[in-house]
Order: sequence, then C-alpha cells, then structure tokens
Amino acid sequence: MRRPLVAGNWKMHGTRASVAELLDGLRRLAVPNGVEVAVLPPFLFIDQALNALAGSSIAIGAQNCAEEARQGALTGEIAASQLADAGCAWVLVGHSERRLIIGERDEQVIRKFAATQSVGLRPMLCVGETLEQREAGKTLEIVGQQLACVIESLGVAVFERAVVAYEPVWAIGTGLTATPQQAQEVHAAIRAQLAAEDAEVAQAVRILYGGSVKAANAAELFGMPDIDGGLIGGASLNADEFGAICCAAGS
Ligand code: 13P
Repeated sequence: MRRPLVAGNWKMHGTRASVAELLDGLRRLAVPNGVEVAVLPPFLFIDQALNALAGSSIAIGAQNCAEEARQGALTGEIAASQLADAGCAWVLVGHSERRLIIGERDEQVIRKFAATQSVGLRPMLCVGETLEQREAGKTLEIVGQQLACVIESLGVAVFERAVVAYEPVWAIGTGLTATPQQAQEVHAAIRAQLAAEDAEVAQAVRILYGGSVKAANAAELFGMPDIDGGLIGGASLNADEFGAICCAAGS
C-alpha cells in the first residue's frame, strides 16, 4: 500500500501576515491518519513555517534548489545542503513554471534532483505536457522523455526516495482539471515506464496529480488506482480547503 501524500506548493505567494495566518490554520488541521502532508513555502518563509509547524505532522519543503548541493559562492541561490540544515524534508524539482518561464532544462532538473538526494532530501519530480503537446497527441511521449532523462542519468533506484508529480501545464492555475481518467492514463504510463526498469520501485513510488485540485474534485482524482495524492497550488493557500483535500486523500 502506498501512503497518500498531499503537498501544498505556495509558489510566489504570501506576506508575513498572510503566511502567519495560513500557518495558524495549518497548525489547527487534523491531518487524517495515514496521510502524509507537506507544504512548500517560498524560501523566505521556510523558517517561519518550520517554527510554526514544529510538533505537527506537516513536513516542510522548498520549491527549488541550486544545482550545486553544497554551499559556496553562487549569489542568489540556495543549496540543498542549506535546506537540509534548515530542517526541510522535500524539494520540488522541474516544476513547469521553472521549465517554461525560467527556462530550466532537463540537465538542470537532473542535477537538482541529484543534489537533493545527495544531502538526504527527497525530490518531487514534476512532469507534464502543454496544451499544444496534448492536442498533438504527444502527452505520453513528452512525459516519458521528462522521466526517462532522470532514469538514464541517475538510475531507476533513485525513485525509491523520490516522488513523481504529474502536472499537465494546461490544468495549472486554469481551473481546468484533467479528468480522473485522463490523469490515470498518464499515471499508469509513468508507473509502467518505471516498472520496465524495476517492478518493485514502480509499485512503491508515489505519483501525485497536480493542476487545479480543489476539495470538490480531490476525492474523485485520488480514487484512481495510480493517483497517490496531490500537488496543490492555489487551493493550498487556504488552510480549510487544503485540509479538506488532505481528508479526501485519507478517505
Ligand atoms: P494549481 O493547483 O493552482 O493549479 O497549481 C498546481 C501546481 O502547479 C502545483 O505545483
């Protein structure tokens, strides 16, 4: 049995006041038994989140890290080792906003994935197709390539300590959610691709769905056999909504 995981990606949102309020709400949440929960604040608020959620079962992660695992002369970057030292557990790598807006390439995603694991943190590898790619019938090819480059460079065993998040770009922040069937098809393909290398790793790895997940659609998505939880953007900025999504993962 794979333990469901719900992670909240706050993206570039929050002020000191709004983050304090959100953390207060999160601290009060009754996280269902058997569900793993994490939040990924902007770097600026990681320490605040760690302090506010100390003693709760909610883990903290970062949305990005430097390609170099160790600290050094690299202005404006944050090393995975610094995130580990701070008390983070997770790092998001390869989010589509970083791939498509910032221009992050596969080689950088691979280096960040490796950097994260080299200091004992767990990467959440994001993959997903654009609307254009979906309409061209290339969804499985694109997602397959994004996964294959990590397997080829680092080996399939790295997925023993990682999570994959399928986030169709056209569903992110748009209110358009993939149907449970559309998402399941891609999740099953991801698991099959991993299984072709190592059946045990594939069976154990958690594959999250992300893209306009809300309390209202979460249960249906999480009910699919290969969907093991969610990576939540907008809805993770509201503690009650996020809590309802966590409950859906536990039901
Ligand atoms: P939304 O839930 O706002 O669509 O964002 C999804 C996402 O990109 C999470 O990483």
